[in-house]
Amino acid sequence: MPSWIGLYYDEPIELVSGQGRRVVDGEGRTYLDFFGGILTTMTGHAVPEVIEAVTAQAGRLLHSSTLYLIRPMVELAERIAELSGIPDAKVFFVNSGSEANDLAVQLACTARRSNQVLALRHSYHGRSFASAGITGMRSWSATSLTPVTVNYVHGGYRYRSPFKDLPDDRYIAACVEDLREVIETATAGDVACLIAEPIQGVAGFVVPPDGLLGALGEVCDEYGILFVSDEVQTGWGRTGENFWGYQAHGVRPDLITFAKGLGNGLALGGLVGRGDLVDDVPANSISTFGGNPLATAGALANLTYLLDHDLQANAATMGARLRERLDPLADEMAVIGEVRGKGLMVAIELVRPGTTEADPAAAAMVLEESRTRGLLIGKGGVRGNVARLAPPLSVTADEIDEAAATLGEALGVAEEAMNPG
Ligand SMILES: Cc1ncc(COP(=O)(O)O)c(C=O)c1O
Repeated sequence: MPSWIGLYYDEPIELVSGQGRRVVDGEGRTYLDFFGGILTTMTGHAVPEVIEAVTAQAGRLLHSSTLYLIRPMVELAERIAELSGIPDAKVFFVNSGSEANDLAVQLACTARRSNQVLALRHSYHGRSFASAGITGMRSWSATSLTPVTVNYVHGGYRYRSPFKDLPDDRYIAACVEDLREVIETATAGDVACLIAEPIQGVAGFVVPPDGLLGALGEVCDEYGILFVSDEVQTGWGRTGENFWGYQAHGVRPDLITFAKGLGNGLALGGLVGRGDLVDDVPANSISTFGGNPLATAGALANLTYLLDHDLQANAATMGARLRERLDPLADEMAVIGEVRGKGLMVAIELVRPGTTEADPAAAAMVLEESRTRGLLIGKGGVRGNVARLAPPLSVTADEIDEAAATLGEALGVAEEAMNPG
């Protein structure tokens, strides 16, 4: 295995089974799972309806390719097209978020006859050549080589923004001005698309003021620049208030990319977008595994479960409950720079006490101390100093309380170490 696969924890964990929001490691230890394999276990571990759909499909047919009709793929595409909010939408399935973003960029570049892309600073869009190329974070950019030309514009990372002290409307105006300036002065003038995560995930659940993407989208419209919403982390109701992250912004995306939660762990990603754009591929194209019977049968059951149980509403309620418990800690502990997020994307930015200087060591300590106490959480941030919580959307009130109490203890250890006395 390559050295660049980063394992969590000084003593890495092998997870061998799961049930609901709990997972068990190879030594029989149980943990409360508040990261869901990077926001991917959406409805929970071992959901009977999903197991049943996958098992039944596995017993019938694992693979046929898109040379033949695949019923669960067509049904899933129809549901996603309907849910997308894009009129006359078409859907294409691939195997990951990276591939989905690659495709979005390719479609936009083809439609606009341009290889110029705009992305937000601190973005993460994946590990493939093009998706890493449009990623605006040094720690995830292995090379400067890229098939597209990229300019990065200001986005939602307010905590470290030069515009941080501005109120929402003026913050948005400053970002709009920056975008216009970049289009007019830095690009060759025929930009293909702007791609944005409505909440930047890997960057540490960076939440822009509502309406920011809509304001950026209006500028894009003026120039004919397409808008791509990367919903790989924010889709399926995780933000609580909306089904898609873009809906907080009054923007009409031309293309939406998705992956992670849809398959609840089955490898499935895709793109939904304006039919004319999705159709506009001037050559044959396939994905051998994209939309395969197993992944789409499981995803269909998973999506049905999510909608039938209104897990978006649960994400809103449980997210608010988590914030009620964590927000006060920011006043009590100097090691906490900021608690932020929406729905079940909640982040804690850790800093050197008394400053806004990033403290990755404190974040690592919070992760370790949480694990010792039976709680799995994630890490992120442009400087690796953000603890991230993103449990399955089926999380219960008791589990929220348990996680908040455990995290409070872990943060207390970091506070004591970084701010003794
Ligand atoms: C917003 C976003 N886009 C794209 C990706 C890439 O997805 P994948 O790892 O499935 O290729 C990720 C993965 O973390 C992501 O968070």
